[in-house]
Amino acid sequence: MAAYIAFEGGEGSGKSTQAAVVAERLGAVLTREPGGTPLGGRLRALLLDADTHRVGPRAEALMMAADRAQHLQDVILPALSNGRHVVSDRSAFSSLAYQGGGRELGVDNIRAVNEWAVFGRWPDIVVYLRVPRDIAVGRLNRSLDRFEQEDEWFHVRVGDAFDRLAAEDPDRWIVVDGSRSVDEVSVEVGRRLDSALVDFA
Ligand code: TYD
Repeated sequence: MAAYIAFEGGEGSGKSTQAAVVAERLGAVLTREPGGTPLGGRLRALLLDADTHRVGPRAEALMMAADRAQHLQDVILPALSNGRHVVSDRSAFSSLAYQGGGRELGVDNIRAVNEWAVFGRWPDIVVYLRVPRDIAVGRLNRSLDRFEQEDEWFHVRVGDAFDRLAAEDPDRWIVVDGSRSVDEVSVEVGRRLDSALVDFA
């Protein structure tokens, strides 16, 4: 059975690098949210652009969900039904943390919207790269997008929401200390994913 694996974490957690390593090793379809489809690419530009369009929190949540609905329909569900593993850089759980926690829209509201958007299909395994905020900030050396420019409390709420989601659902979530080197993190991610994937053989 094919597995739907999501990488989650805050800004500067290194999840994109680790997702690419895992996808290569598993021969999985590598994709991302927002932006895994042509429509998603347009939505991503609108969502991340720091200067234009004052997107309100509810519109932001629905645009993330719209990106995701298209992504499930066009990329993730077809790959899984063809027997391919999928590795996604972020998933609906990012919306629970960023829009539910960060924007304070309520995790349960965002869960309900996303349950519908994802056709009821949530990631089987979530790899959560946990990085202390000071280390993560030190890794952000490019121009900052709309989320990265949010104040410190926003990012604290996002991190707390991820921690809570992981604690409530330990069978699905693999929590990894992402503050170490890329190689050290990838060894641990690989080892822990291999044991989780035994159920999908
Ligand atoms: P991403 O491309 O993963 O950026 P980074 O590699 O810098 O973490 O995600 C872009 C931004 O979108 C990121 O700040 C988190 C935010 N985001 C949400 O707020 N909600 C969501 O549902 C998703 C998928 C992303």
